[in-house]
Amino acid sequence: MANIAWCNIVIFLLVSLFLANYVVVLEALHYLPNQIKNQPYRTGYHFQPPKNWMNGPMIYKGVYHLFYQWYPNGAVMKVNEIVWGHATSTDLINWTPHRPAIKPSRPSDINGCWSGSATILPNGKPVILYTGNDRYNHQVQNLAKPKNLTDPYLRHWTKSPENPLVTANRVNHINSTAFRDPTTAWLGRDGWWRVITGSQEGRRGLALLSTSRDLIDWKQSTKPLHYKDGTGMWECPDFFPVARTDSHGLDTSSFRESVKHVLKVSLTDTFHDYYTIGTYDRVRDVYVPDHGFVQDETAPRYDYGKFYASKTFYDSVNQRRILWGWVNESSPEKDNIKKGWAGLQAIPRKIWLDESGKRLLQWPVKETERLRTTQVRWENRVLAGRGSVIEVSGVTASQADVEVLFKVNGLDLEKADVIEPGWTDPQLICSQKNANSVKSGLGPFGLMVMASKNLEEYTSVYLRIFKARKSSKDHVVLMCSDQSRSSLEKGNDKTSYGAFVDISPYQPISLKTLVDKSIVESFGGKGKACITSRVYPKLAIGERTHLFVFNNGSQNVDVLSLSAWSMKSSL
Ligand SMILES: *[C@@H]1O[C@H](CO)[C@@H](O)[C@H](O)[C@H]1NC(C)=O
Ligand SMILES: *[C@@H]1O[C@H](CO)[C@@H](O)[C@H](O)[C@H]1NC(C)=O
Ligand SMILES: *[C@@H]1O[C@H](CO)[C@@H](O)[C@H](O)[C@H]1NC(C)=O
Ligand SMILES: *[C@@H]1O[C@H](CO)[C@@H](O)[C@H](O)[C@H]1NC(C)=O
Repeated sequence: MANIAWCNIVIFLLVSLFLANYVVVLEALHYLPNQIKNQPYRTGYHFQPPKNWMNGPMIYKGVYHLFYQWYPNGAVMKVNEIVWGHATSTDLINWTPHRPAIKPSRPSDINGCWSGSATILPNGKPVILYTGNDRYNHQVQNLAKPKNLTDPYLRHWTKSPENPLVTANRVNHINSTAFRDPTTAWLGRDGWWRVITGSQEGRRGLALLSTSRDLIDWKQSTKPLHYKDGTGMWECPDFFPVARTDSHGLDTSSFRESVKHVLKVSLTDTFHDYYTIGTYDRVRDVYVPDHGFVQDETAPRYDYGKFYASKTFYDSVNQRRILWGWVNESSPEKDNIKKGWAGLQAIPRKIWLDESGKRLLQWPVKETERLRTTQVRWENRVLAGRGSVIEVSGVTASQADVEVLFKVNGLDLEKADVIEPGWTDPQLICSQKNANSVKSGLGPFGLMVMASKNLEEYTSVYLRIFKARKSSKDHVVLMCSDQSRSSLEKGNDKTSYGAFVDISPYQPISLKTLVDKSIVESFGGKGKACITSRVYPKLAIGERTHLFVFNNGSQNVDVLSLSAWSMKSSL
């Protein structure tokens, strides 16, 4: 069965390579008027629909399909008019927009076609399960199939006449206003499909389990796959296997014995995406996280900045699992209305299990590197302590990819400040007034991106190293993305974000940042901690944007290597 799926996917890729060129040119020009294309905060290589409001991606493989929640009528969303926006790509970077794949049209989705997921059947054919907000504003689960499987873009989708397939009712005790976002279905050894759907019962968040032989006739399991009290509504659950020993992705239905499973939920309480790693008990159909479900400031998250309603899919062509996350604006609604759009997708990231088995690692898909043009490279430079600021010139700083390897002197690690008691929330430490200018110990050192020439504006992405209090670890490495001086404009949300990076500071410390006009996406410790921010500078726009490295700590820090590339715009 794996073979059949594989063949179809390859055919999809070949056919669309041929067609893609035409459609991209025609449709892209048609969709993107110049007054939007030339806006300073419109990104160059991140996926954005031409205009208006979007959130939450879905994806179906083969030709890469990106389905996303789209509000076609304005930059301020009305949930009752949400459609499934649709775009395809052969490289995850250049996208061809299509007409919406699914729009409200039936009693079972007339008040909005909300999130869901694509599933590839053993015969290689895709189906979509999605939540409809029905005529009573109840959340129900629906199915759609492609109308024409020989159309490489799968532009037309047919809704099942049996919709709605699953509804909340008195028998199954499901809350009809908290029953949404079915996952990709996975197949059990018994030949039954399984899907989880996010829900809430009082303050308990749940991943409700439904099973079916044919994806049409569903049985509601009396036991959820997993739940946790006190967490509130679980949106956009995602449940998938990860390999223990290498970075290859696995099909959602993989039967391999030596896997771990990941459950991700998006909490409406905090608007963050949390994950746990654990064991899926296939006999009892329950998921048991290795370390419980922690929900504090250090709980495992895909991203410690702006990143919500994410979804993964298995890319069977390249044997990797890819994560898409939605990044909203930090600007006030009136600015979004003026721009004509709101929201975009983070760069698609490969996601896999760390050797320790304790966390997931993420890295921009390798296709991102095809956008690199001019490169600047440094090796073995010393960043003197107490205020070094060195410009990295020669790249387009408003649209760049920057990778740095820092190294601190092992003896200097003795001089690191001991972390204050009570400093358990990395975001709070990063948000403290003058957190970025404290001249003591190791760091802050890092990058200043989207900076104006005279530093009236900049966003700093930096590291600080502390001595630990607990004896289990010697040091604590903190990563911050500080927006407090990102713009002279007052109205934007300039929250600083932070994360602890579980690395040893005796080793080189890696920091990668993708800069794209209004988005700053950073990866610390080779993808152990990620932070995404949005910034809207007034001065640091286009050619007037600069890039610097800095060291405000008291000790010198070595830059073992620094590479910065200008990035082309995608189609
Ligand atoms: C299906 O799609 C193919 C390729 O785009 C097209 O040639 C064909 O006419 C379509 N068939 C129908 C019934 O629409
Ligand atoms: C049902 O879900 C809504 C949120 O949509 C929540 O406010 C309400 O408390 C839930 N009701 C019950 C009985 O859990
Ligand atoms: C969107 O951004 C605003 C402002 O930065 C933030 O307060 C809000 O929580 C975000 N919403 C979601 C759903 O992430
Ligand atoms: C470094 O410290 C100075 C003050 O000592 C401060 O003005 C500056 O903003 C700091 N640099 C960064 C990138 O935070």
